Amino acid sequence: MLDLFADAEPWQEPLGPGAVVLRRFALAASPSLLADIAAVAERSPFRQMVTPGGYTMSVAMTNCGEVGWTTDARGYLYSPYDPLGGRRWPPMPVGFLSLAQRAALEAGYSGFQPDACLINRYLPGTKLSLHQDKDEARLDAPIVSVSLGLPAIFQFGGAQRNDPLKRLLLEHGDVVVWGGESRLWYHGIQPLKPGQHPATGNCRYNLTFRRAGE
Ligand code: SIN
Ligand code: FE2
Repeated sequence: MLDLFADAEPWQEPLGPGAVVLRRFALAASPSLLADIAAVAERSPFRQMVTPGGYTMSVAMTNCGEVGWTTDARGYLYSPYDPLGGRRWPPMPVGFLSLAQRAALEAGYSGFQPDACLINRYLPGTKLSLHQDKDEARLDAPIVSVSLGLPAIFQFGGAQRNDPLKRLLLEHGDVVVWGGESRLWYHGIQPLKPGQHPATGNCRYNLTFRRAGE
């Protein structure tokens, strides 16, 4: 298929106060990001976490960085250790860090120092219910969220769970950055539609960069 956007420069779409979509911003880096995801998953495999309420999440997750987002019976937490095996999470690949920092800067956030990268893997039917990212110690750093592979519909709402939702298709290489006024806004992913993507096959990956610690 002829891809008219294959050589296009990235472009920006405003999403809300402090929030922007950087279309195709990660496209050029995507082959090395995918290779790094595979290397991280060799050490800390994808797993479906169980919420404190006993619900098995449909998204499969792993982490890299100083700390990783995980769950146990008591709640959601950031831990330096992968509960599968008890070793530290793999270090954040340099290409991850540089992409996250460039994206933050492009969105107007300077000095972003992410210490956590959550890696989500979606297969057809997988979804992520509406939630806030609120387990981080500080809320002055933005969230940088990178989409790779199959497209997915992202929902972006407001400060209240029942605020109206914007729905937008996130495609391979798109990056969403939110912070400031919208840092705690609700968001989620609708069930992934089946498909095949040349770079990832039947799945979608998402990298979520955060500053979790002080
Ligand atoms: C998340 O909210 O953690 C992930 C969002 C996404 O998969 O795009
Ligand atoms: Fe989130």
